Amino acid sequence: MAKRITYGWFLLVFGTGLLLNFSACKHDPIYGEDGITPIDTTDNPVDTTDNPVDTTDNPVDTTNSGTPCDPEVVYFDQDILPILRSNCAFGGCHDDNSAQDGVILTSYDNVMLTADVDPYDLSGSDLYEVITDSDPDDRMPPAPNERLTSAQISKISEWILQGAKNEQCDPDAGQCDTEEVSFAEQVQPVITTNCLGCHNDSAPSAGISLEGYENVKAVADNGLLYGVISWSAGYKPMPFGASEPLPQCTVDQIKSWIDAGAPNN
Ligand code: HEC
Repeated sequence: MAKRITYGWFLLVFGTGLLLNFSACKHDPIYGEDGITPIDTTDNPVDTTDNPVDTTDNPVDTTNSGTPCDPEVVYFDQDILPILRSNCAFGGCHDDNSAQDGVILTSYDNVMLTADVDPYDLSGSDLYEVITDSDPDDRMPPAPNERLTSAQISKISEWILQGAKNEQCDPDAGQCDTEEVSFAEQVQPVITTNCLGCHNDSAPSAGISLEGYENVKAVADNGLLYGVISWSAGYKPMPFGASEPLPQCTVDQIKSWIDAGAPNN
């Protein structure tokens, strides 16, 4: 509501400015009350130097920066896109160039345009059908790729049942607890969602598998893990193909776990 009012103000001020400018052109020069002395029209009567509408912030911007994430809500950007990116949206499959079967899974808009998702309806959603297909040749990702985990499948189904929306939240809003970070409860789920599709035992990109504690511990100890997730110079930024790093809080929690000796806790 507030945004509408702001936008209305913008139109009002902008529109009035246009009108005044037009009349200024028509009657130029404008004379004062005595009809002889021209009024200085170089000073625009609408003060545009102090624009009351802050146009640096897009007035119709709908991203809710600062809104904490609701654990009950499935967020496309945080929960669904990482699964698609690491299991489907790469070269030869469903990235922008390959687009197998016309399906592109690189962004919310592309998913909604090409993946036949029917909000609130699992059986009407091809995306859900293909990830649950019992025939390994029809299933996506197809054999020999591994099936999505049941946790990933239920995230996707939950998202569809919540209306396949593109809700926004700020994963860094509020407190970031970096005390006593647990491998099982905090680190491993991040790896599973964001990395495992490309770094599993059967298809380890760059020869690196991140399946299981020992493999993650190895890259934690040699510095690679923090290097790639912090997008530090000299490291390949991971997740591969992502437009921005993982949320800062996630990166800080993993760093804290590494600094504590990367325990199997
Ligand atoms: C879409 C597939 C994909 C995803 C998702 C992905 N990676 Fe990678 N990863 C790659 C590829 C491809 C390379 C090799 C990149 C290169 O050599 O240019 C790589 C390389 C690496 C390397 C070695 C980097 C080096 O400098 O030797 C590490 C470590 C790594 N990834 C960790 C991760 C972690 C941690 C995540 C999750 C946060 C992740 N990856 C997500 C595909 C992926």
